[in-house]
Amino acid sequence: MIVAIDGPAGSGKSSTARLLAKKLGFIYLDTGSMYRAIALLFQRLGIEPGDSRIAEILDTTCIEIRYDEGVMHVLLDEEDVSDSIRSTAITELSSRISTIDVVREKLVAEQRRMAMMCEQDGGGVVMEGRDIGTVVFPDAEIKFFLVADASERARRRLLQYEESGIDADYDQILADIVDRDIRDTSRKNSPLKQAEDAKVIDTTHLSFDEQVTIMEAAIRERRH
Ligand code: DC
Repeated sequence: MIVAIDGPAGSGKSSTARLLAKKLGFIYLDTGSMYRAIALLFQRLGIEPGDSRIAEILDTTCIEIRYDEGVMHVLLDEEDVSDSIRSTAITELSSRISTIDVVREKLVAEQRRMAMMCEQDGGGVVMEGRDIGTVVFPDAEIKFFLVADASERARRRLLQYEESGIDADYDQILADIVDRDIRDTSRKNSPLKQAEDAKVIDTTHLSFDEQVTIMEAAIRERRH
């Protein structure tokens, strides 16, 4: 069974998907982390969108997701980059490089391959991103589209930064979220868009527990 969760930055996809996967005994796949790993690679190599070397570099690069005692790790050519992909610079760059066609082709193929491997093992997958229900798995058994007001998403991001001891400014976070929304929804290839058959969950006024409970109930109902 594939559970697809899409939505804009800060809508609570990652934390929700992680907990749902745990409750259901499914594998959790955060596809944004794969775009972030490519952004880190480009940052290190000084590559900007439009560079003629991109296709060649992608051909020889391996992005993997592995689990160690239930914790997800992102590997860029065997190096664990799980922490370094969370910087604000990589957040911004990942949104820009995700508009590149060859980057999307590579990662979508890899996402399908990983989910197929989980299914072959008899397991389910909770996959979250921007285009899971529309492009990666248009036939997913259940699809959710999470939304929340930009101001509420910025407030949650600020809290996350504060909890991790990172200095951040609310107005700057809000401006970044609005910028990312525009870029993620307006790109030509696989823009962030609600699949017609997705259940829309507006989390603006929901607590985390409430939203997980609603989604878990919908998934369990679908399984029966
Ligand atoms: O979910 P996230 O914020 O970690 O994702 C980082 C960037 O990657 C986001 O700005 C858009 C891009 N992305 C994408 O284009 N498609 C996905 N399926 C997941 C992420």
